[in-house]
Amino acid sequence: MSEKLYITTPIYYVNDIPHLGHAYTTIAADVLARHYKKKGSEVFFLTGTDEHGAKIAKAAEKMGKSPKEFVDELSPKFKKTWDKLNIGYNQFLRTTDPKHEEKVLDFINRLKKAGYIEKRKYEGLYCVDCECYYTENQLVAGKCPDHGTLPNKQKEENYFFLLKKAAVDFDLAGKISNDEIRVMPESRKNEILGKIKVGLEDVSISREAVKWGIKFPGDENQTIYVWVDALINYYSATKIFPSLDGWEEHPADLHLMAKDILWFHAIVWPSMLLAVGLPAPKEVFAHGFFTIDGKKMSKTIGNVIDPIALTEKYGTDVVRYALLREFPFGEDGDISEEKIAKRYTNELANGIGNLLQRTLVMINKYGIKPVRSQSKILGDTVIKKIEALEFMEALDCIRQMTDVANEKIEEGRPWELAKEKKQVELTRLLNEVYKILVDIADNLEPFMPETSERILDQLETLKPEPLFPRID
Ligand code: MSP
Repeated sequence: MSEKLYITTPIYYVNDIPHLGHAYTTIAADVLARHYKKKGSEVFFLTGTDEHGAKIAKAAEKMGKSPKEFVDELSPKFKKTWDKLNIGYNQFLRTTDPKHEEKVLDFINRLKKAGYIEKRKYEGLYCVDCECYYTENQLVAGKCPDHGTLPNKQKEENYFFLLKKAAVDFDLAGKISNDEIRVMPESRKNEILGKIKVGLEDVSISREAVKWGIKFPGDENQTIYVWVDALINYYSATKIFPSLDGWEEHPADLHLMAKDILWFHAIVWPSMLLAVGLPAPKEVFAHGFFTIDGKKMSKTIGNVIDPIALTEKYGTDVVRYALLREFPFGEDGDISEEKIAKRYTNELANGIGNLLQRTLVMINKYGIKPVRSQSKILGDTVIKKIEALEFMEALDCIRQMTDVANEKIEEGRPWELAKEKKQVELTRLLNEVYKILVDIADNLEPFMPETSERILDQLETLKPEPLFPRID
């Protein structure tokens, strides 16, 4: 029996340079995808780039390029980063793909037909960098809470998605509260329910002023709001990729993102789906934001870390490990290169790496023939943690096994057993340690696929080679 699982990351704004924030979400999604594939599920893991809107048009103009030229140049940077990080996505969607554009039109037409779109006059405060309107209350000292810039007063006649009506018609609050749409972590669920209670506003889903976008069906003067175009990627992807069979209109099992865009994923998107008669996503999980060295990651501060440079210095698997290991996935936390270097030395080089070396050296020296057994020591514990998205805790369980193995060696004193010619005890002890190493490799696989393979390979050939060499 194979279960079908549809996992997504956000599609990232193509004009951003792929940074550690993007990498964080994408690595987490990849760990889940690998984990479920290993378990035998059929996984569809989607990521991509968000390529329309005023922000991108503006950035293209600044570079003296047409928007299309500009996005064509930038989108591959994301693919390259994901390749470096060994991200095994199944599909990479670009919102400028004509096939996506066509499905967006279909979706908007379905919304129209279902009676959830209305044309209205609108005036509001718009932040171009966020591509969204803010109410006075949401601004901080009159400025955008994210960018600290003054929003523009914008007056338009737009099409609106009747969010308020959809939320009531389909009992959005009820579905979230009984976990039919599971919003995670729990604290975020309460936050979202609180927002619904306070009252929802209908969403303007077209723009007159924005030219770089998909034309609104039936109105040449408007383009579809970039956020709506972007959300629909989760739907269009299931319809446009020929390699996918039987995924049409499959609801997402898990939308992963950071808390900044939870509102769109937990309120707007499910309401849009329900309004057209499609099932809502099953789970929406918002992880925290991280700071770099205690500071918000920003181009102005100059503390944006390039994931590719990090993989070149420490190795792909180390970056994957270090990011998920540092703090609990649903919470905010801090990352720095120093922290990554510390994990590298303490947990990887001196931990797993050293255990593997010393074990293989002893096995060779004492002429032990290890037996490969299938028994799982960690299995269920780690699986449960991965499936609960408790990556830090899962990695800690795996790390603790190196302590257990090292203690076994310290207590069992194989060098003394060898001196005393106690071959039975010696064989038993080193086999136990060997088994733990097999188990560590097995459990590390979704997190550190290459390292896992290298450990298993060394265990098979009994040829020790440093897994994590010293870095200067
Ligand atoms: N294009 C929209 C998403 C549309 S999805 C239908 C967008 N893109 S973005 O490029 O700004 O990416 C936002 C996502 O990047 C966040 O949700 C999160 O996944 C990730 N992060 C960006 N900065 C981050 C941190 N400092 N920390 C953790 N994740 C961060 O919004």
